[in-house]
This record gives sequence, C-alpha cells and structure tokens, in this order.
Amino acid sequence: MDRVRPHASERDDILSMMLSARYEDGSKMTDRDIRDELRTLLIAGHETTATTFACALEELHRPENAHVRARLQDELAAAPAAPEELAKLPFLGAVIDETLRLHPVVEMVLRRLRRPWRLGDYELPAGTSIGVALPLVHQRADLYPDPRRFDPQRMLDRKPNASEFVPFGGGIRRCLGAALSLYELRIALAVLLREATLALREPRPVPIVRRRITLGPQTGVRMQRIA
Ligand code: HEM
Repeated sequence: MDRVRPHASERDDILSMMLSARYEDGSKMTDRDIRDELRTLLIAGHETTATTFACALEELHRPENAHVRARLQDELAAAPAAPEELAKLPFLGAVIDETLRLHPVVEMVLRRLRRPWRLGDYELPAGTSIGVALPLVHQRADLYPDPRRFDPQRMLDRKPNASEFVPFGGGIRRCLGAALSLYELRIALAVLLREATLALREPRPVPIVRRRITLGPQTGVRMQRIA
C-alpha cells in the first residue's frame, strides 16, 4: 500500500481505487479495511473460480464423459474466436452450470434469523443460526434425476430456479462476483480447450475435501498436455 499510494490516482487497479476512494464525509478507507477487502477478493474471487475450473476440467476428461467433451469441442470449433462470443455458447454455459451443481465450492450458506421462523416441524426462535447445505440441494433426485451423473444437457432441458440451483447462495447476500466468475470460467475453459488437448494424469477422481472455507479436489487436478 505504501508503494502504490503516491501513484494511486494514475492507476486503475483495485488497490489504487480503494486507496483513492473517499467516504461521503471525505475520509479515506483505513489500511486495515483495504487489507480486509483485498483478502475477501482474493479468497472469494480467486480460489472459488479456480477450483470450479479444475472441477470442470476433471469432469470433461473422465472417460465416461468423453461424449460431453466431444460435443463441447464441436460447439467451440464452430464458434467465432472472440471471447465475448465464446461466453454466449449455450452448451459451454451448461457445462459450467453442471460443474457448479455437482461441485459447489461453498458448502453452506449461513444466515441468522432476525424473526422467529417455522421450517417444516421446527419452530426456530429469532437469533438462531441456520445453514443451507448447497451440495444437498444440488443432489436432490426429484430436481436432478440421477443426480451424481455429469449431464450438462439437463441444464438446457430445464432451467432450475433460484432456490434449486444455488452455487452462489441467494437473496440479498448472493455472491457479488457470480456474473464475473461465470464469464471468466466460460472464456477460460473455451480458450484452453481450443488451444490444447489435455488428459488426466490420475485415472480415478480426486477426492473432494474441505480446504479451509471452500470444497475442492484434495490434491488439485493433475493434467498433462498431449497435443
Ligand atoms: C465459481 C465462483 C464463485 C462461487 C461458487 C462463489 C460462491 C459464493 C457464495 C456461495 C457466497 C455466499 C452467498 C450467500 O450468502 O448467499 C459468496 C459470497 C460472496 N462472493 Fe462469491 N463465489 C464465486 C466467485 C466470486 C468472485 C469472482 C468474487 C469477486 C470478484 C466473489 C465475491 C463474493 C463476495 C464479496 C461475497 C459476499 C457477498 C455478501 O456477503 O454480500 N465471489 N460467493
């Protein structure tokens, strides 16, 4: 921060914008607040998207999903190379959505009740903390038949509503970066698959474990370029 501060007004990166920002009363953000905001962006913004990207690559390269990869590659081959055009491809979007359904990186979205609330047979008093387990919502066979199967087509056949598909949480605190990360993921996946032919280095799926606050592949997803 000390290094950037003298040049902040000439730069347009996030750190410089925060250093230059002023509250209504003219005061600056404290260094501590800036540090916290940057840490949120790094953890909320980077790790989540990178983990989803790794899971998408793993699903697409499993032998049982070869037909999904072939269909995606056909769609990519027929598309214009401009990133903003790639981001609109329907099957590519469905592949990302289906990855987020099967591998939500955030396990639980938490809320504290401001008023008493009835949930099924439970009378919950104000102040109770409740959590919505995102993987359980996404594994409901009544919403997603054969729920463990990676099947992007299902996301095109029936668009799930905002309480059925919740990788970004929901309501007023829904993820601020949802649109950005979907855009990034589509473009990054499209460009990588158009440029390189990859293969998984381990034949078996990598176990998904909790890594601090996110869920993700225990050892990362190791791949090699074969063409
Ligand atoms: C695949 C990528 C991502 C996933 C799965 C994800 C998931 C989530 C989830 C589940 C929440 C909690 C929402 C709730 O309580 O209802 C959240 C909150 C948040 N996310 Fe993301 N996120 C992703 C990418 C990003 C990116 C790229 C950014 C920023 C550049 C970001 C910034 C935030 C912030 C600031 C919050 C807190 C919002 C609030 O409390 O008002 N996220 N995210």
